[in-house]
Amino acid sequence: MIKLQLNNILMDIDFHHHQKTIELIHNQLKNKTGLGSEFTGWLDLPNKIDHKLIDDIIDTSQYIRNNYEVLVVCGIGGSYLGARAAIEAINGLYPKRQVEIIYLGQTFSSSYTSQVLHYLQSKLFAINVISKSGSTLETSIAFDLLLSLLESKIGKTKAKQSIFVTTDSSKGRLKDQADYHEYKTFIIPSDIGGRYSVLTPVGLLPMATAGIDIKGVIQGAVQAYQDSNEVNVSNNGCYQYALARYLLSKSKSVELFVGYEPQLTMFIEWLKQLFGESEGKQKRGLWPASAIFSTDLHSLGQFIQEGTPLLFQTILIANNPNDDVVVSYHDRHSQLDYLSGQKLSSINHKAYLGTLDAHVNEGKVPCIVISVDKFDAYHIGYLFYFFMKACAVSAYLLEVNPFDQPGVEVYKKNMLNLLKKNDDK
Ligand code: PA5
Repeated sequence: MIKLQLNNILMDIDFHHHQKTIELIHNQLKNKTGLGSEFTGWLDLPNKIDHKLIDDIIDTSQYIRNNYEVLVVCGIGGSYLGARAAIEAINGLYPKRQVEIIYLGQTFSSSYTSQVLHYLQSKLFAINVISKSGSTLETSIAFDLLLSLLESKIGKTKAKQSIFVTTDSSKGRLKDQADYHEYKTFIIPSDIGGRYSVLTPVGLLPMATAGIDIKGVIQGAVQAYQDSNEVNVSNNGCYQYALARYLLSKSKSVELFVGYEPQLTMFIEWLKQLFGESEGKQKRGLWPASAIFSTDLHSLGQFIQEGTPLLFQTILIANNPNDDVVVSYHDRHSQLDYLSGQKLSSINHKAYLGTLDAHVNEGKVPCIVISVDKFDAYHIGYLFYFFMKACAVSAYLLEVNPFDQPGVEVYKKNMLNLLKKNDDK
């Protein structure tokens, strides 16, 4: 399904030597006895697919596709990144589309918010507001602004039919609001935290509305669930990846996630949140960074090749592009005739091979390579589950709780104190 290559990491790993540790972690996850085990509902999720729920999501997405020009996905962090990651990775950045998906609630930026609201003035739009806690301020403010615009455009009754809420089953401000107004509501299971929620309605409703085959996403996740359930680390790519990045973290402090497709940018943003928020505690964890090559080779390539040796790379690559272009040697004065007739995807692949060689063999930068057949629904579903499980195992290797984020609360507390003082109008 996916291929993990560890032959360029500039170290040998004796998997047998680590089997006992991995087995312990495997059992902690399985038996729900590890740190934060009350938030491991995502672990068996692919195995417990609620087909009625999937049908409801597909029907709702079809209703949105048939009746609106735009769906505004209103959420932040784990309530936003997964959906956008999948939509952009699979559909691309300029998709042929029935419904446009745009994003709000992931920022306090007045300029961005104002532009989005202005853009929506002439559009027929629906809102999917997503928040597990129901109290995230970025999302709450954006939802309120969207609601007010929507009601002023189409009136309260029609607005009510254009709002889709994804939140906790029983608690939070958003849940109260949804119950009061009887908005159509999807539930985020209480034992699944934000950054592990992409395979719940949090990710699936926006994906389905963007025309993505969510059954394919789930099939991929089911396969990853099965493959990563193997206790023998020598037969489990997910555990091998977790172990490799853990061992590399003893000499490197940054994991640079690399893609060769601009449409992977948001997938890598999702990875950055997943690993950064899960591992970065108790003064531990790798700093998850990102780059899109060859674009960033022209800005960061020098540092990677010859700068401070602080990073290793995890490269995501597809054997087949979602689309292709043939280079045509259009102008004979361009002196590019040796490229005539070549596919741009094979030029991109040669850039990858040449860069890998340069970074590993001359720059001495360890590189993990993860390749899939294609960035389609099935493989993106596979990758979501693969990385969530690898992240949980990695965090347990570091002996930190993968499922909390106590440090994030500090900025919120300070910000709310300042807002309540209200002395900076
Ligand atoms: O992983 C997490 O828990 C966070 O990133 C949350 O998803 C994010 O803070 C948004 O929270 P909420 O869904 O409660 O609005």
